[in-house]
Amino acid sequence: MKPDMSVAIAGLNLRNPVMTASGTFGYGEEFAQYVNLETIGAIVTKGLSLKPRAGNPTPRIVETQGGMLNAIGLQNVGIDAFIAKKAPFLRTIDTPAIANFFGNTIDEYAELARRLDAVPEVAALEVNISCPNVKQGGIVFGTDPRCAADVVTACREATAKPLIVKLSPNVTDVVAMAVACAEAGADALSLINTLTGMAIDLERRRPVLANVTGGLSGPAIKPVALRMVWQVARAVSLPVIGIGGIMNARDALEFILAGATAVQIGTASFINPGASGEIAAGMEAWLAEHGVDEVRSLIGALQV
Ligand SMILES: Cc1cc2nc3c(=O)[nH]c(=O)nc-3n(C[C@H](O)[C@H](O)[C@H](O)COP(=O)(O)O)c2cc1C
Repeated sequence: MKPDMSVAIAGLNLRNPVMTASGTFGYGEEFAQYVNLETIGAIVTKGLSLKPRAGNPTPRIVETQGGMLNAIGLQNVGIDAFIAKKAPFLRTIDTPAIANFFGNTIDEYAELARRLDAVPEVAALEVNISCPNVKQGGIVFGTDPRCAADVVTACREATAKPLIVKLSPNVTDVVAMAVACAEAGADALSLINTLTGMAIDLERRRPVLANVTGGLSGPAIKPVALRMVWQVARAVSLPVIGIGGIMNARDALEFILAGATAVQIGTASFINPGASGEIAAGMEAWLAEHGVDEVRSLIGALQV
């Protein structure tokens, strides 16, 4: 018998728990030749801002042991070009699209949530709070529970669509952040975003990245991500989406056991653009081999 791979997140029904991670899958169309987009649970877009952004100067990507550092600087086409040029493709596929977005101020976040609420091709919103708060001296929204709650409150008021809040791992107490976002009206939490790191070119005595620091992703961060997902899933009653170094079906299932209802595939898509589809198929095969009828039965089933 075929296992039931479906899961639901805040009213969003997914054929299976596998989503793509923001910034690693373009706007979906770019990957259509590598993945049958109707074999994955959802597509998450590159992070959107009000105005187009060129991102940081190069070099802005470097491979590190077990992962990579990126300082792309949230390059994106901007909300207008997304609606005009990217959203029409999303209408042609029978897979929900989740729009990831960010702002420099609370007002920008709210404006983006309001604009995206009106886009029929967008099934849900994922708000990236790992951005500097320009009005408050550049402190990153996602590292202060009160700032994060303010963003979530403003977005909540601006949209009736499912609101997923993407948490930063660059904090001492991720549970405090999760609770603040839940109380402010999040429908689901996704974690983790990248961990801040840096790489040095010894001979040149210079940082490798033009931006000096960047975000670490890939297998190197998986143990940190698993720990945070486990902590957050126990602490809040919202669905959790696990992200961080998932390279194969076994990694994905570990996140489900830790309490994730769904997972996102990021860096793996750079190594193998077909990774997300293969991981979804691999999860189903694992369930079939182990006589598990429903993937839902594994959510949080870790025995501690
Ligand atoms: C090149 C690159 C660009 C990214 N851009 C975004 C982004 O625009 N918004 C966002 O919320 N996360 C962004 N991320 C973070 C990923 O969505 C994901 O949270 C992180 O990479 C950890 O997952 P992974 O180890 O599977 O890559 C980006 C990651 C990478 C590697």
